[in-house]
Amino acid sequence: MATEETLVLVKPDGVARGLTGQILARIEAKGYEIVDIRKLTPGREVLAAHYAEHESKPFYEPLVEFMSSGDVVAVRVAGHRVIEGFRSLAGATEPTTAAPGTIRGDLGRDWGLKVQQNLVHGSDSHESAARELALWFS
Ligand code: RTP
Ligand code: MG
Repeated sequence: MATEETLVLVKPDGVARGLTGQILARIEAKGYEIVDIRKLTPGREVLAAHYAEHESKPFYEPLVEFMSSGDVVAVRVAGHRVIEGFRSLAGATEPTTAAPGTIRGDLGRDWGLKVQQNLVHGSDSHESAARELALWFS
């Protein structure tokens, strides 16, 4: 069986705060492999495709604005059960309540903005991972 892969994004808040290295170090320390990596400021087109499931949500516009506000680091990460494992490393969506020990729980906070700035994205299923990796590493 081919090794499972997931898409991790270090979001613009993580890059701007200089936390990319710490976040990548946590992924490597867990034992996962960084297979490919690129830094870019994403355009609306890739973000519209990436966040299509959230199009009707009130935080959609602020989310796309936030995600296109600066560089992100896109990472292809491999390992057995890495999709579930990285979601666990990332912690809950809201940094205020994300468990200590997780990326969002240790390094994130609520800034009182229209959208949660929570440092990282991780694919949430095999289908999402395949779709998102094709989108960000085409
Ligand atoms: P992600 O997709 O980025 O890995 O995060 P997630 O699964 O934990 O969260 P999801 O529900 O997919 O939402 C995508 C991103 O939208 C922002 N968000 N803000 N009420 C809010 O302010 C709110 N809700 C969602 C977050 O940046 C979240 O990660
Ligand atoms: Mg999500």
